[in-house]
Amino acid sequence: MTMVICHRGDSGRCPENTKLAFCQAVQSGAEGIELDVHLTRDGHVVVIHDERVDRTTNGKGYVKDMTLAQLRRLQITGKGEAQSILTLEEYFAIAAPAGIRTNIELKTGWFAYPGLEEKVWAIVQAYRQENNVLFSSFHVQSLLRMKAVAPEAPCGLLSNDLLTNPEDVVQELGFQAFHPWYLRVSLSLVRRLHARGIAVNVYTPNSPGVLAWLIALGVDSVITDYPRRALLLRKWLQPR
Ligand code: G3P
Ligand code: MG
Repeated sequence: MTMVICHRGDSGRCPENTKLAFCQAVQSGAEGIELDVHLTRDGHVVVIHDERVDRTTNGKGYVKDMTLAQLRRLQITGKGEAQSILTLEEYFAIAAPAGIRTNIELKTGWFAYPGLEEKVWAIVQAYRQENNVLFSSFHVQSLLRMKAVAPEAPCGLLSNDLLTNPEDVVQELGFQAFHPWYLRVSLSLVRRLHARGIAVNVYTPNSPGVLAWLIALGVDSVITDYPRRALLLRKWLQPR
């Protein structure tokens, strides 16, 4: 069965990567939540998509240049009451009791954030989520560091490129999943990856047509802004 993973929480209905979006994601009945992490100036793991706070908050500047106390003063507005930036610990305080699976995307493309992987894993362990997480990144080095810290933890390589042989790349790197952009997916790609035992977790299909097509292809997960839509389509296309 194709798993439904809520991209940045239930971001189609709520401000992305916020408590509201994560609570709504739990409510939706989806199996998983995807979120993005960065490191603050004082070494806290925080949940936010961009390297800068400008797009999603009322502040300006890089996450890496701010302390957690400074970040907490920023407001995230949108639908519902104003939200603030969460730490990864605060996220797990919501997700762990709910039993929902977490896809942690390590946002290390611009800045390496030395120590991020170790800190993330320590938090995962503190919340006893070792068997309920999946790591992903566009940045190979970051996933290799994660593997060194937590060899048993599943890792998925994110890519928006049209790679000719992602199954070889993922296998040689020792990762368990490939996370392609939805416009790069084909039946042949899914078959080749599945033949090697590699999971296919696709981002970010949102339209009913694309979601239906991916569910019919039998991808392992759809990482979507519209989990309720995906769950409804799955009910029709993959009846148990
Ligand atoms: O992890 C899937 C997806 O989130 C990757 O792209 O930019 O939305 O983090 P982005
Ligand atoms: Mg992401």
